[in-house]
Amino acid sequence: GAPVKVNISKIEPGQQMVAEWRGQPVFILRRTEEILNNLGNLEGVVADPESQASDQPDYVDAKTRSIKPEVLVLVGLCTHLGCAPSFRPEVAPADLGADWVGGYFCPCHGSKYDLAGRVYKSQPAPLNLPVPPHSYESDDVIIVG
Ligand code: FES
Repeated sequence: GAPVKVNISKIEPGQQMVAEWRGQPVFILRRTEEILNNLGNLEGVVADPESQASDQPDYVDAKTRSIKPEVLVLVGLCTHLGCAPSFRPEVAPADLGADWVGGYFCPCHGSKYDLAGRVYKSQPAPLNLPVPPHSYESDDVIIVG
């Protein structure tokens, strides 16, 4: 499949858009300082904190899983059986519990991921959501693929 250009200028902090690349959903999240600070607190909670077993390009930061800390790009397919996880940025929703600080929740079998796409320990999903190859054409335009 050809690379896809995506204009990310309209994504508000704390929100995401969904693009499509090779027939797959691609989540593009603009992270806030608070979200980025939480990533460090979750290192003991997630299964593969630096994505050593998970799929991401060498040029992304090991911890933030991104080129620019505030912009996260993920393939939006659960690493268990490929459902599309839901974006659940809210803190402590009733159904996800008081310790939930926002992330992605797979409705099929309940796998939880943080806002770096890192899977929590002991979930049906074995690995983090993949980071696809991507680059910046400009501050506002990402090329996926
Ligand atoms: Fe996501 Fe099974 S497909 S938990």
